[in-house]
Amino acid sequence: MVFEIILIYGLVEFYYSSIEAELNRSAQSIVYNYNQYLNNYELYKDAKVLLEYIPGNTVAQVQIIDDRGVLLADSIEPSMEGMELNYYDINMALSGKQSIWKGKISQTGEPVFSVSWPITSPDSEKVIGVVRVITTLSDVNEILKNHIIILVSLGFCIVFLIFLTGLALTNTIISPVKEITSAAKTMAQGRFDVRVSKRYNDEIGELGDTLNYMAQEVSNHQKMKNDFIASISHELRTPLTSIMGWIITINSGDIDSKEELREGLDIIEKESKRLAVLVDELLDFSKFDAGVITLRRSTVNLGELLSYIKRQMEPRAVRKGITITIDVDEELPWIDADENRLKQVFINIIDNSFKFTQKGGYIDIIGRKKESSVLIRIEDNGCGIPKENIPKVKQRFFKGDSLVSGSGLGLAICDEIIKLHNGELNIESTVGKGTTVDVILPVQLEI
Ligand SMILES: Nc1ncnc2c1ncn2[C@@H]1O[C@H](COP(=O)(O)OP(=O)(O)OP(=O)(O)O)[C@@H](O)[C@H]1O
Ligand SMILES: [Mg+2]
Repeated sequence: MVFEIILIYGLVEFYYSSIEAELNRSAQSIVYNYNQYLNNYELYKDAKVLLEYIPGNTVAQVQIIDDRGVLLADSIEPSMEGMELNYYDINMALSGKQSIWKGKISQTGEPVFSVSWPITSPDSEKVIGVVRVITTLSDVNEILKNHIIILVSLGFCIVFLIFLTGLALTNTIISPVKEITSAAKTMAQGRFDVRVSKRYNDEIGELGDTLNYMAQEVSNHQKMKNDFIASISHELRTPLTSIMGWIITINSGDIDSKEELREGLDIIEKESKRLAVLVDELLDFSKFDAGVITLRRSTVNLGELLSYIKRQMEPRAVRKGITITIDVDEELPWIDADENRLKQVFINIIDNSFKFTQKGGYIDIIGRKKESSVLIRIEDNGCGIPKENIPKVKQRFFKGDSLVSGSGLGLAICDEIIKLHNGELNIESTVGKGTTVDVILPVQLEI
């Protein structure tokens, strides 16, 4: 609107000022001619003659008026001669100033534009008459009207286009954003089953997808947490049930012999230890999850650590009739690691090998230097892991069907510890042939 008002105003101004300039030129030339050629006579005598000096290209009406305002000569309507004219511009010119007037002729109502210039006598500088040049504004106003109609309709078109654009924006941006916002609010209240529907494949659609993805992840996480708690409860109940059972039996005095009492107390001790271990492992997990576990790093001589573990395991190997061997490269590099945590990892893995290997089997501990890492391999020829279970053994609480399986946390903890060391834990296994667990640890260059 502002633009249109400025444009229309400028247009009217342009047309009117060019008309004014044209009229002024004519008036000026008549005044000039009078002063040049005729000023030695009386104006009333010269008026008719003066009209002949009108420039040939003047289309306007020219009037010569005397100092009382009486029309002396008129180029278009001679019948009006002798009438006294009373217009603003004539009165101003009679007082010595060039002036303009825009208005309507009272009889016809025609819009006109007039310019009046004073005619002065050369000797006295006194105003002796007026030259008035008049033109009709009907034609110009008609042109202006057409222009304004075009401009206004153009304006309406633009407003309509803006309206359409707004509508499109509402559909593609504002409504989807509103939908996403309301979905996000619902999610914030804990309902992660809501999903944002995708309307367009643009940035906002992508935002919706991301939000959906987040909701999915949170749901998964919640489910995992619930499963975890369920597993823990289950895991805690088994030893507790057996402890409770024995305590009730002992407490009721139904025990016949000392041996039976001893057996009961043994079971209570064993189960309590199991509970303590389980609680320790769970604490470890909550620390892993909170990301607060920090490695107490030092320079670790892997070769020595592995020999130490092997020696520690020897009595168990003898007891179970399993051969345990170690084969570690001489120049196995020292690494920057948490020695106790690594020990926990290797003992866990070797413990599994012992549990799942029959009498007469073997367990090999192998240490090899690679380009920028160390490979520790623990190999057994035990019962092996069914193919479909291999990807699951690192999950918390996953244990096979075997009776010797523990709580199923061992490998999950090992995996976390190795990840903290930026290493890898890979398991390969064939049922009936045996299992190979590879631990790959990076070697820091500064050591
Ligand atoms: N060397 C192996 N040979 C055969 N099966 C194995 C071996 N190592 C692991 N498994 C299988 O993977 C499962 C998970 O092992 P993991 O060490 O996590 O748990 P676990 O030994 O059962 O219990 P925990 O270590 O907590 O006492 C085991 O229950 C077993 O089924
Ligand atoms: Mg284990």
